[in-house]
Order: sequence, then C-alpha cells, then structure tokens
Amino acid sequence: ALVPPPPGVDQLDWPTLQATVAACHACALCGTRTQTVFGVGATRARWMVVGEAPGEQEDRRGEPFVGQAGQLLDQMLAALGLTRTSEDGAIESEADRAGSSRATAQKHLKNDVYIANVLKCRPPGNRNPQPDEIAQCEPYLRRQVALVQPHVILAMGRFAVQSLLQTTEPIGRLRGRVHHYQGVPVIVTYHPAYLLRALPEKAKAWQDLCLALEVMGASGEA
Ligand code: URA
Repeated sequence: ALVPPPPGVDQLDWPTLQATVAACHACALCGTRTQTVFGVGATRARWMVVGEAPGEQEDRRGEPFVGQAGQLLDQMLAALGLTRTSEDGAIESEADRAGSSRATAQKHLKNDVYIANVLKCRPPGNRNPQPDEIAQCEPYLRRQVALVQPHVILAMGRFAVQSLLQTTEPIGRLRGRVHHYQGVPVIVTYHPAYLLRALPEKAKAWQDLCLALEVMGASGEA
C-alpha cells in the first residue's frame, strides 16, 4: 500500500532523512525499485548537482550517476576542479557548523560536490518521471538542499528544472542566467545523457559550467 511521506520531512536530520527515503512507499516506484538512491558526496559540499532519476545501474548500485551519463558528469565536474567523494556521513550539528571548525571545513570542502536526483527511485524502463512522483519526492530533495546548504546548484535536465524552479520552460530559454531555489543560486544546464546524444550542445554546457564558476566566485569562496 502507498503511504505518503511523513509530515515534518523539513525537520529531519541527515541520517533520519536517509532512513525515511530508504523506507519510502509514497509512490508506485517503491514496487519496482531494487533500492532507493539517496545521493552521494560530502554533506557540506559547496556544489550540488541535481539530476533526474536513477537508471538501471544506479538502481543496482545505490549511487547516482554511475552509468554512461555519470562518466560524462564526472568529466564535467573534473573540468570545474570538482571530485565526487563517497563521503556521506552525518552533517555536523548546527553548533559545530557555526563554531570554530567552520573556516577549516569550508576550506576542506572547497572542491566537493553533492549529487542527488529529483526521484530517489528508478522509473521502470527509465521512463520519464511522472508529476505525482516528482511531487511526492520533492520534500526529500528540498530537505537535502536545506541541510547541505550548497552555494550553487547545477540543475541538469528538464525534470530537475521543473522540480526546483517550478517551470516547464525549455532549458534553452532558462540557461545563461541565475535562478534561485530556497535562496541558493541555480544554474540550468542540459542533462549529461542528452549531451551524449547531442554532442554540439556540449559547448553550451561548458558555458553553463563557467557561469556556475562565476556564481561561486561571486559568493567569495571560489
Ligand atoms: N541520470 C540521472 O539523472 N541520474 C542518475 O542518477 C543517473 C542518470
């Protein structure tokens, strides 16, 4: 039976959020997934990537972007000087965050990225996410962003854009300027799986990454 996400997801700490997602039965995808795919990376990363949904390999491995699109994503991140880490520990308490460890932590996490998807479960046959699935899963992504507190979000593909920016405008009309989600700057770009099929668009994606770098620089911490 389907059970909606519990109220108060926006209050959960990181481990409880992870456990809640792992046990989620809010939409029919729980019946076909192998496992949920929560996200990967440093929980205090300054960069955040939001993709669409797990594919077959992600569903099997439990990690986002481990297939072909993921390899291209890793190359794009490398071009930004970013590396994917598998660190996925609990976020420090607010007290730690505000305290003396902050300066060192910021420095340490300069090149870190957190990678998540709009949907935490694989749609069967990699079909597009459905509006009800996006809506049920949205509180989880919202809470991930609130806890990670990235300085910039790369929204990759139309479903990331739809979920974060609440618009169905095509990517081509949204790229090239800075949007916001919960106060965090959002840069819109093409999904790496699309870039694999449309190689000429890679130049545009590169422009988008440069814009994201600028935004990060403007936040004073590039
Ligand atoms: N595509 C996505 O959007 N996310 C993944 O995790 C893998 C492929």
